[in-house]
Amino acid sequence: MKLIASLAAGAALMAVASPALAVENATVRLDLNNVNPERTIPAEIYGQFAEHLGTCIYGGLWVGEDSPIPNTNGYRNDVLQALKDLKVPVMRWPGGCFADEYHWVDGIGPKENRPVMINNNWGGTVEDNSFGTHEFFNLCELIGCEPYLSGNVGSGTVEELSKWVEYITAENGPQAELRKKNGREKPWKLKYLGVGNESWGCGGNFTPEDYASEYRRYQTYCRDVNGNKLYKIASGASDYDYNWTDVLMKKAKNHMKGLSLHYYTVTGWTGSKGSATKFNDDDYYWTLGKCLEIEPVIMKHDSIMSKYDPNKKVALLVDEWGTWWDEEPGTVPGHLYQQNTMRDAMVAALSLNVFNRHTDRVKMANIAQIANVLQSMVLTSGDKMVLTPTYHVFKMYAPHQNATFIPLDVETTVREVPGKKAPRPLPTVSATASEKDGVLNVTLTNVDLKEKAEVLIPFEKLNKKAAIAGEILTSSAADDYNDFDNPDKVKTAAFKDFKVTKEGLKVTLPPMSIVALAVKN
Ligand code: AHR
Repeated sequence: MKLIASLAAGAALMAVASPALAVENATVRLDLNNVNPERTIPAEIYGQFAEHLGTCIYGGLWVGEDSPIPNTNGYRNDVLQALKDLKVPVMRWPGGCFADEYHWVDGIGPKENRPVMINNNWGGTVEDNSFGTHEFFNLCELIGCEPYLSGNVGSGTVEELSKWVEYITAENGPQAELRKKNGREKPWKLKYLGVGNESWGCGGNFTPEDYASEYRRYQTYCRDVNGNKLYKIASGASDYDYNWTDVLMKKAKNHMKGLSLHYYTVTGWTGSKGSATKFNDDDYYWTLGKCLEIEPVIMKHDSIMSKYDPNKKVALLVDEWGTWWDEEPGTVPGHLYQQNTMRDAMVAALSLNVFNRHTDRVKMANIAQIANVLQSMVLTSGDKMVLTPTYHVFKMYAPHQNATFIPLDVETTVREVPGKKAPRPLPTVSATASEKDGVLNVTLTNVDLKEKAEVLIPFEKLNKKAAIAGEILTSSAADDYNDFDNPDKVKTAAFKDFKVTKEGLKVTLPPMSIVALAVKN
């Protein structure tokens, strides 16, 4: 059954039954009277995550200076360019679970002296530490993004983390001298500092009470020096663990700028997670319903945080999210290498719409992960690289970074898709709108696999002669993907199926499509 509903920002879904429509008709109203010029969409919502896992770092980002693969100081050129084009705002590193086994001193100094270790979390792979602190911070400089460091609490010490911060940010003193000896005279800037990762699990199996105490202790010794100002982030809950958020806020809110949240679009944590590329229509709709459940989850964590922090001084950072499927057959177990289809692209668009709606509390989100792992931006093999459908979504949404958020009221049909305890609502059309430098950017999605959607955007302010540029991402099947033989099967194209009418802008969204419009009045 389909329902018809009005979806205002953050409102509960109110739905009334309606017969299924042959063509989806939707209205996307820009609530121009409620625009708060202070409410921008933080660029960090479009953040990335790079872990020492599989071929994310080695092979994906880093090939080393001596590699035959074209590179700049060891970073592969094709990926570097793709990431520059994406305007990556922030990159989280070195984990994930890897972070709580990582000892930063092993990754500095002459490469031949760096010890090897076993990457116990991810397939027992040998890690040679050739990509370490310098390689990460220099990469961030090359791409022009903020580094987000994930510190080791699980198997580390307060002293180790405190010295890492000093090594990176101090102008003088023993750690600064060591950094200079290793070739970097000037300190780097470090804003985002995560104190542990998944501390309820791979990051130490703490109880929330014990972790809250550890967090308070660790963060005390991570100092602001030489004008550097740390934005300290406590390791937060997974999915529906509201007690973790409650305890952390109760016991440590005055010592943090952010609390994290991890939410994966996954069928479950035991057994098969399903194939990334072989699925039916029901699986497709289930996936989108599960992905959208992140909205009530965010709202519930937000409401718990508001008990202790009604003025929303502590941010919620969704620093791991995305789809998690079975590893591709024939790939190394534990390396989490998965393909990326149009279905993943829809997950990316819907999730970004949710984050954009909740930026009063959600200030950062980091998709997992940037290369060759889970829902990645790029896939590499030897000297080849493909851009995934998810990459294209991030590129289409990039104009929303740091733009003024425009609230929307979307009237659309809503499907009910199966959920764990109750059916989940899946609106057919969803959207984000923002304005920057006189350009209104509207991104629209139609999740329906068969029907197009006729969308009316009643524009109060639309000049009939406004210049409108459109771009679309769609494909003939939801399981279409890009691979090394067919790298451009799913790609963006110019979009022109819109017209300005007396009622507003009329846009025809093909089935399973994502459209970006830039309107210059
Ligand atoms: O992104 C893969 C893993 O998922 C991360 O290492 C961990 O934090 C999470 O469980």
